[in-house]
Amino acid sequence: MDKIHIPVLLNESLDSLSITPDGFYIDGTLGDGGHSIEILKKLSPNGLLISIDQDQYAIDFVLEYYQQYEAANWIITKSNFADIDRIACNLSPKRNPDGILLDIGLSSRQLEESHERGFSYQKEDEPLDMRMSNELGVTAKDLLIALSEKELSQLFWKYGEEKYSKRISKEIKENISNINTVGDLTRLIYKAVPAADKSINKNPSRRVFQALRIVVNDELGSLEKGLDNSFKVLKQNGRLSVITFHSLEDRIVKNYFIDKSRSGEGRMLFQKYIAPTDDEKRRNPRSASAKLRTLIKN
Ligand SMILES: C[S@@+](CC[C@H](N)C(=O)[O-])C[C@H]1O[C@@H](n2cnc3c(N)ncnc32)[C@H](O)[C@@H]1O
Repeated sequence: MDKIHIPVLLNESLDSLSITPDGFYIDGTLGDGGHSIEILKKLSPNGLLISIDQDQYAIDFVLEYYQQYEAANWIITKSNFADIDRIACNLSPKRNPDGILLDIGLSSRQLEESHERGFSYQKEDEPLDMRMSNELGVTAKDLLIALSEKELSQLFWKYGEEKYSKRISKEIKENISNINTVGDLTRLIYKAVPAADKSINKNPSRRVFQALRIVVNDELGSLEKGLDNSFKVLKQNGRLSVITFHSLEDRIVKNYFIDKSRSGEGRMLFQKYIAPTDDEKRRNPRSASAKLRTLIKN
């Protein structure tokens, strides 16, 4: 088993939720359970935690790893957090949540132990799938085949901010019949990127992989729905805390929180956002780009 995912901004996100022992909380992104387990430890038997993940592998891992924490007040469910209001009403019809946490993106486990889904550009032999949930239909390879050169270029630019998107999509479409694995794609990307950039950036595939993953999983659409449905279902003075890892996600959260503050429906806990300390970044380099924002419902 690979190393367990290290929860990012753990103390800061728990503090931001202002957890009370009898409260009701939802962790919309269970992952390896790092945040969930610490929320659970703060709850009394009258408290309730619902943890959601769309990836069955994540749920299976947590059920086994945290067996000893199995409790009547911890419900784990496979679903998309976009439907968080419906999930909350079904599983806890009489209570609205006091706090919701969304820790967006992929866990380290999904990158390192991906079950042949090719999330990481370093796993050369894996197929180009990238679906977090087995309920999703379109794989990354399907996109490479179905989209035109121009559409692919737009996708890499819009969701990966990849400056060589045109050169990369041209290379891909010219060699489409030879692309099956992660390695097939990373080699083409490497070929398409100018020599000067190859020496600066040894892994020019990062942005293209991010773009494909975002589209395959409709990550930004789920985030928009998840924010709105979380805010709807929260109780008054309930808190919504979101941790993002790149500017596309953070922009959506920031704008949503600003809109809710301006309309008087909510207020932000922090003037801007909370970022990891230098110490956390040293201990866990994956935390480097994280931003935590919290909205309180008025
Ligand atoms: C960054 S990890 C969470 C890590 C977790 N907080 C921890 O400390 O172990 C994000 C998790 O959210 C899940 N996820 C991403 N988007 C989702 C969505 N729209 N609905 C449900 N789960 C999602 C991923 O499958 C992944 O397991």
